[in-house]
Amino acid sequence: MLRTRFTETFGVEHPIVQGGMMHVGRAGLVAAVANAGGLGFITALTQPTPDDLRKEIARTRELTDKPFGVNVTILPSINPPPYAEYVQAIIESGIKIVETAGSNPEPFLPYYREAGIKVLHKCTSVRHALKAQKIGVDGVSIDGFECAGHPGEDDIPGLILIPAAARVLDIPMIASGGIADARGLVAALALGADGVNMGTRFLCTQESAIDQTVKEQIVANSELDTQLIFRTMRNTARVADNEISRKVVEIEKAGGTFDDVRDLVAGARGRRVFDEGDLDAGIWSAGLAQGLIHDIPSCAELIGRMVADAEELITARLAEKVVA
Ligand SMILES: Cc1cc2nc3c(=O)[nH]c(=O)nc-3n(C[C@H](O)[C@H](O)[C@H](O)COP(=O)(O)O)c2cc1C
Repeated sequence: MLRTRFTETFGVEHPIVQGGMMHVGRAGLVAAVANAGGLGFITALTQPTPDDLRKEIARTRELTDKPFGVNVTILPSINPPPYAEYVQAIIESGIKIVETAGSNPEPFLPYYREAGIKVLHKCTSVRHALKAQKIGVDGVSIDGFECAGHPGEDDIPGLILIPAAARVLDIPMIASGGIADARGLVAALALGADGVNMGTRFLCTQESAIDQTVKEQIVANSELDTQLIFRTMRNTARVADNEISRKVVEIEKAGGTFDDVRDLVAGARGRRVFDEGDLDAGIWSAGLAQGLIHDIPSCAELIGRMVADAEELITARLAEKVVA
């Protein structure tokens, strides 16, 4: 057993989190993570309406009696979804853990607090983690430059970011980005984290409801197979390398604006990748961790072996290297 401030504060067995994933964070995956003793998050905005979110939470409860949470990602948007109604659905459904991401969660914190909800805020820098601590979140999850999705604009990898954050934070901290196995988990603990968050690794599990072709592509890919899009707009996203992501980068390099790439990056195209396995239909998030992923395990296999291997790494393989 690995016991950390994170497992204690959030009431889960293992210090392993499946972070919010647009189009992917659904009942089957979240319940599988929960049943394996990790902390899974339903991604609120994957559900078209707050009522659909209520139903997804109920479906997850049918599949597990272990704790799980809901991710609320608030990104800049021309037509913002009704965030307050999603938050209301979360509260009324009796959820006790929320992962916030994308922007400052302060406006909703009083509601979460009143409902007895613990908040794990995901951010990408030490200064944002400190700010989150100051406004009263219960823990932070910090994404290094390696991560899938939005790594921010500082380009600081976890090897520096996590110990730099550990030095100044008092609340539990989860290391995120580029972690896919026990070595990453043990390294994160050594760097001062209380656990790990994984996206790409959970994307490539049996219970992740995406087309098998995408999972096989992740296994085939290496750490070189990502692109950074939206760099020129200071809204960087790390996505899988494919025809579309390369084209977006080219257009940006030639001075293009969001309007020039709007159609290429449309969410509906990305969904076709996951639903139909058409790998070049649109952009899809994947991180450098692809280079560490060589199979498609169940969540129980993945979490079980990560914990067992981490225990062995700590107590035997690393201990062996210490000589008197
Ligand atoms: C397909 C996919 C979709 C994602 N969507 C979201 C999202 O909607 N909100 C969010 O906070 N993070 C999102 N992420 C980021 C993950 O929660 C996590 O922080 C990140 O994947 C960690 O890096 P890793 O992929 O190297 O493990 C997504 C990641 C992936 C792979």
